Amino acid sequence: MSEQKVGLEIANGVAVISIDNPPVNALGHAVRAGLVEQLAAAEADASVRAIVLACKGRTFSAGADITEFGKPPRAPGLHEVIERFDNCRKPVIAALFGTTLGGGLELALGCHYRVAVESARMGLPEVKLGLLPGAGGTQRLPRLIGPEKAVAAIVSGKMIGAKAALADGLIDAIVSDPVQGAIDFAHTVDPAKLVRVRDRSDKIAAAKADPSAFEAAAAEATKRLKGVEAPAACVEAVRNSFTLPFDEGARAEQQAFMRLVVGDQSRAQRHVFFAEREAQKIPGIGPEVKGAKIGRAVVIGGGTMGGGIAMNFANAGIPVTIVETDEAALSRGLDRVRGTYDVSVQRGALPAGTTEKRMALFSGSTDWGVMAEADIVIEAVFEELGLKKEVFARIDGIARPGALLATNTSTLDVDAIAAATKRPGDVLGMHFFSPANVMKLLEIVRGKESSAQSIATAIAVGKTLGKVPVVVGNCDGFVGNRMLARRTIECERLMLEGALPQQVDAVVKAFGFPMGPFAMGDLAGLDVGWRIRKHRGATAPVSDALCEMGRFGQKTGRGYYIYENGSRVPTPDPEVEALISEKATALGITRRAISDQEILERMTYPMINEAARILEEGIAIRPSDVDVVWVYGYGWPVWRGGPCFHADLVGLKEIAARLEHYAQAVGDETLAPCALLRRLAAAGQGFADFAQDAKAAS
Ligand code: 3HC
Ligand code: NAI
Repeated sequence: MSEQKVGLEIANGVAVISIDNPPVNALGHAVRAGLVEQLAAAEADASVRAIVLACKGRTFSAGADITEFGKPPRAPGLHEVIERFDNCRKPVIAALFGTTLGGGLELALGCHYRVAVESARMGLPEVKLGLLPGAGGTQRLPRLIGPEKAVAAIVSGKMIGAKAALADGLIDAIVSDPVQGAIDFAHTVDPAKLVRVRDRSDKIAAAKADPSAFEAAAAEATKRLKGVEAPAACVEAVRNSFTLPFDEGARAEQQAFMRLVVGDQSRAQRHVFFAEREAQKIPGIGPEVKGAKIGRAVVIGGGTMGGGIAMNFANAGIPVTIVETDEAALSRGLDRVRGTYDVSVQRGALPAGTTEKRMALFSGSTDWGVMAEADIVIEAVFEELGLKKEVFARIDGIARPGALLATNTSTLDVDAIAAATKRPGDVLGMHFFSPANVMKLLEIVRGKESSAQSIATAIAVGKTLGKVPVVVGNCDGFVGNRMLARRTIECERLMLEGALPQQVDAVVKAFGFPMGPFAMGDLAGLDVGWRIRKHRGATAPVSDALCEMGRFGQKTGRGYYIYENGSRVPTPDPEVEALISEKATALGITRRAISDQEILERMTYPMINEAARILEEGIAIRPSDVDVVWVYGYGWPVWRGGPCFHADLVGLKEIAARLEHYAQAVGDETLAPCALLRRLAAAGQGFADFAQDAKAAS
């Protein structure tokens, strides 16, 4: 079996050991066993002078097989494999291409030399899975590139390109073909002068003498990370690389890995990794349905969302035309896009000259005729059903047959919009999140007529634009905003019952969200929700009163908080406190002290209940899709895995009981656990069981 995963070819004194484990050459058990076997064969063969470690397929190895984590370990472990390469008495050269990640890079670091093609990228992204590199990476990488650069790379998990890798000493040469380049390189090395990476000390000598530069780099790398365990473990392990002998450092690294891999944070992050990929698999749409290629895009409406959406296309190198009502609106839209690029360049986030390069892919028009050339048309005009229907009827008359027609509506009925055309199969929702050029989530709203081809194309477009697409059903608020609405109701109630915005925000931030709901509301603008409430005949006494006072949030300097002299830092405002008391008194509510635990429950459980309703109705395909929506669209901390993952950790029984309690205490029946939540709780099950049953049934 091992032969199937790892091959060996010997020619002209060079043995080429090739991993062949599609799609990403993960280092599962069969690969590890095959590597040990083939290395031994190459070492034993007297005709072999040097060994090349290569990979077949589209990339060098992406690292350990993540699906094996949490299962009983099977020998040989990755450590053992790497140790054997490390101790090989013949020179071993790794031939890198594609992405060399995690254990894949650690394996390459166990070789004497590394060559790579120019397009190759490499990194240790374990931190993104709540881990640290566990097969010697924290000890070997610093010995090649120095502890300061190593700690930055390991804590961020970012990839390094071949050119930078060569400059830093991570690789030894850039070659045009990985295997042939490595074979050629092999002929140039002197087998008598082999130095193992573990025995190198030149790059760690300075930190050994004075660790201050390392400590500064470590502090910089971790400064925005709170609540997460893995980054601190990464720092400690890299520090060990120059304070401890190699074997001791490697042992400590392995212990830290074993601790993290069984922890909830890493489990949560691994869950999100697989959830993101699972979300792109749609029952009934097989791999034979390929997304259409997009060569040209049109975005109708160049406002806040339209401009941002269009930027995604330009960023991906796809020409895009913004269509607006008149020249003035058009130039306002294009100017705003240009300004956004300029700011990124000024901040150093994009290289100089980017604005011009990207703007060269933009065009603007007031003539709808441009739509005839488009492969995709995305509508982002005002949120009015009548207008959107009119716009789609007009697009229908111009766009070429088979073009994908998408609406960015956040609240309207996608079926009603699709019905305005004679091709509802080509219509769906593509719900981007603000700022659309930044936020990763893309809800793809499937109308009742949307064709499999349209869905496949929308998913492919989303991936091309660097988004995380999730297919959702057509209902008010889709998945994300429908759940958010539950939280918003509780925010208003909590104020009236006794909490203040700053207390609620502090609890939500302590949970791990980057922002609390009130600060978030101030940033987005309170008038948006106000308009929607008025339209629906709904009220929120405190929030409505703030809007009536012209307090729309940051843009007016006042909202739930006060923002003085253009500051973006929310400062609690006694006027708001007084207003809340006044409204509570008027409603006959005696305000009370509310515990942080109650706040956290009310900020999360009603949303989890709504997630269960969404699953019950089939609006989301699976619980993990809900998790992806909240992690990528709303700042749910990835290390808490998303609302459904978190709910399973807490236990649905507990959540159902608390919801029952709040439904009675508040007097709102909709807070009571829905039928699905009740059923799962009674059976002692979680969302994970629901997902498994659904999969088995389909
Ligand atoms: N183990 C198991 N499966 C993996 C995997 C891994 N390390 N990496 C990717 N896969 C699977 C994906 O789940 C997906 O499966 P599917 O087709 O059934 O959904 C398939 O391979 C293809 O992956 P992508 O869809 O992500 O393909 P892309 O081409 O878009 O991306 C990639 C390729 C950049 C390699 C990306 O998959 C990736 O980032 N993988 C994870 C890399 C990583 O985190 N490595 C570290 C692992 S931990 C480790 O090595 C521990 C060590 O220190 C001891
Ligand atoms: P906006 O008001 O900033 O922009 C709308 C633009 O559409 C304006 O520039 C307007 O001139 C243009 N427009 C209006 N009628 C047009 C027509 N017939 N032809 C061409 N252009 C026309 O609005 P925003 O915020 O960009 O919202 C657009 C859509 O995106 C709405 O459906 C909204 O619900 C949705 N959305 C908004 C989000 C947000 O946070 N602002 C988030 C997600 C979706």
